[in-house]
Amino acid sequence: MNEPAGRTYEARAKINLFLQVLGRRDDGYHDLETLIVRISLADRMQIHALSDPDRFKTLSLSLEVVGEESIASTVPADQSNLVLRAASALAERAGIRGFADFVLEKRIPAAAGLGGGSADAAATLQVLNDLWNLRLDDGAIRHVAAEVGSDVPALLSPSAALARGRGERTEAIHVPPLRWCLVTFPFGVRTADAFGWWDGEGERDGGEARPDPAPLIHAASSGDPRVIGPLLTNDLEPAVMRRHPEVRAAKERLLGAGALGAVMCGSGPTVAGLLPPEGSALPPGAIEVRSGEA
Ligand code: C5P
Repeated sequence: MNEPAGRTYEARAKINLFLQVLGRRDDGYHDLETLIVRISLADRMQIHALSDPDRFKTLSLSLEVVGEESIASTVPADQSNLVLRAASALAERAGIRGFADFVLEKRIPAAAGLGGGSADAAATLQVLNDLWNLRLDDGAIRHVAAEVGSDVPALLSPSAALARGRGERTEAIHVPPLRWCLVTFPFGVRTADAFGWWDGEGERDGGEARPDPAPLIHAASSGDPRVIGPLLTNDLEPAVMRRHPEVRAAKERLLGAGALGAVMCGSGPTVAGLLPPEGSALPPGAIEVRSGEA
């Protein structure tokens, strides 16, 4: 008889080294090109799961969210949580009868642009593929990931990834480890809002004059923070900063404190400052993290 299996897993956040919005599509999403790297800030998940159609008639999923109150209290534990959305989508794809119980220790702030929910979803798909003995190949997992959210396919990759389309077309690239510091905020920005603000202002903010990402991609693979720093860009920054001037102030503070470059993460509001390999004072309240493979 099959026995439930358990696993503890880390789901790491991401930073976007560049994010270009290429335009709005007929389906309401936006075509983009972005380069993400995974960072050491991570949620922890404990998963117990079993698939056994001989013993179970239905699928049962449960989720408990724990962790520091200021973060955990902002994360829903209901069906809107991407962990449960990912588990449901995978179960539906594979016709699972059994269960999966999750304890999610949140450390990545929600709606912060750090891809926390998407990283949790990507980890859920990978771990359940194993614990439910599904043996789905990468293409099939990627397909389910894209249904769950635009950022989820890129976060299946343990390292750096270039993402295109609405985010679902991904290519792994190697980026050597880098040191960063993060400035987070007590408020979040909804991804849909940031893209909506860009719709109103994107042309004015950058339009056709957007920089060529090739030099940054090249610099990122070389891993030299002094070359990468000045090339960091995010097309969603101006529209978010206009509504939240504290994001611009944080970027200026990081640069003033000796960061080699600073950029808003994803749809914001977190700002990441790229640090030299050693030294450099962090502004008060900033968190130091590393990017690169775990
Ligand atoms: O795919 P996901 O559910 O994470 O996206 C949330 C929202 O962000 C979408 O409903 C859409 O408004 C916006 N979005 C977008 N273009 C993308 C990704 C997300 O407009 N490439």
